[in-house]
Amino acid sequence: VDKLTDELSEIKLTQFAGCAGCAAKIAPDFLRGIISTLDIYKDNTVLSDSKGFEDAGVVKISDDKAIVMTTDFFPPVVDDPYFFGQIATANALSDIYAMGAVPKAALALVGFPATKLPKEVFEQIMKGCTDKLREAKVNLVGGHSIKNPEPFFGTAVFGECHPDDYWKNSTAKVTGDIILTKPLGTGILNTALKMGKLNESQIKKTYEIMASLNEKAANIARQFPIDAVTDVTGFGLIGHSSEVAKASNVGIKLFYDKLKFIDSFVEIFAKEGMIPGATSTNIRVYESDVLFPDGSQYKKNVLFDPQTSGGLLIFVPHEHSDELLQKLIDNGMIHAVKIGQTTKEHSGKIEVL
Ligand code: CO
Ligand code: CO
Repeated sequence: VDKLTDELSEIKLTQFAGCAGCAAKIAPDFLRGIISTLDIYKDNTVLSDSKGFEDAGVVKISDDKAIVMTTDFFPPVVDDPYFFGQIATANALSDIYAMGAVPKAALALVGFPATKLPKEVFEQIMKGCTDKLREAKVNLVGGHSIKNPEPFFGTAVFGECHPDDYWKNSTAKVTGDIILTKPLGTGILNTALKMGKLNESQIKKTYEIMASLNEKAANIARQFPIDAVTDVTGFGLIGHSSEVAKASNVGIKLFYDKLKFIDSFVEIFAKEGMIPGATSTNIRVYESDVLFPDGSQYKKNVLFDPQTSGGLLIFVPHEHSDELLQKLIDNGMIHAVKIGQTTKEHSGKIEVL
C-alpha cells in the first residue's frame, strides 16, 4: 500500500491537462455565435432563459414542480485525484444551487487515459465525487466514461424547484447590494501551483475553497427575498457580473478594495502576470462592458480571473443585505462580503471603483 501511495503522489495530474479547469472553457462569444444559428426545439415547458446563459436549464413538469438540469466537466485543475473529484463535483452542483434549486441526482462523466495512468487514479477521482455527493445528499445514479488522452471529470446534475420560485440572472433590480460568498483567485493560484510557487498551506486553502459546496450559502439566501443569483466560474467575476447586468438591464458598481482573496499572494502573482490563458479570453470578450477608471493590468488579471467552483454572487435588496451577510458569516462563510451595488446608470455595464 505504501508503495502505491508513493507512486500515486508522484503523479502530477495537471500535467495531463492541456489547459487548467474552467480555463478550458470555450470562449462565450464563439459559443453564442454558434447557438444563435441553431433552430432549437423548445416548447412552453422550458422556463429558463432561451439565450442559454442562465446557470442551469429549467423545465416545468407540473404546476408545482420543475426540473433543473446542468452539466460541467473539465481536465484536472489540481494534481491530487481525490480533490479533483471533489472540486469537479462541487463545481457542477453549484449551478443548481445558483438557481435556488435542490440537487437530487447526478451522473458521472469521465475521460481517462487508461494506458497512461493507473486505475487507482480513476478510483480516487470517483471517491472524491462520491464523498462530495454524500455531503450534498445527492444520489449518483450512473454515468459514462471514455478512454481519452486528456483526463477529464465532471457530472450532469438533476435538481428540482417550484416553477414560479427559482433564481434567475435576469431579475436583478437597481439599488440592491451584491454579495460574493467565496474569496477569489483560483485561476491565478492554480497557475502558480503548476509553476511550483505555492507552499503546502496555500495549496490546502485553495483546494478547500474550490471543494466547498455552495449549498449552505444557497440555503441561507433562500430565507431572504433575493433579486438574482449566479455563481462565479470560468468567465470570472466580471464575466458573470456582466451576464447579470445585461440580462437584468441594470448597472453594476464593484468596489475593488472590498474583494477578498484566498491568499494575499493572489495580487502579487497577478502583478507578476502569473495568470491562466483564459484570463485574456475573458478580457477580450468582456472588457467593453467595463468602465474602469483605474485600469491597472494587475487588477484586470484579478477581476477577469477564471474561477473554478467559485462562490455565489447574490443580488439582494439593500434593506436585507446586512442581515444576509451576517448570517452567511455566522454559518461559516467567513469570506462572504458585500462587493458592490446595482445602479440605474450605465445599464448593462460594470463600473469598477
Ligand atoms: Co454558473
Ligand atoms: Co457551469
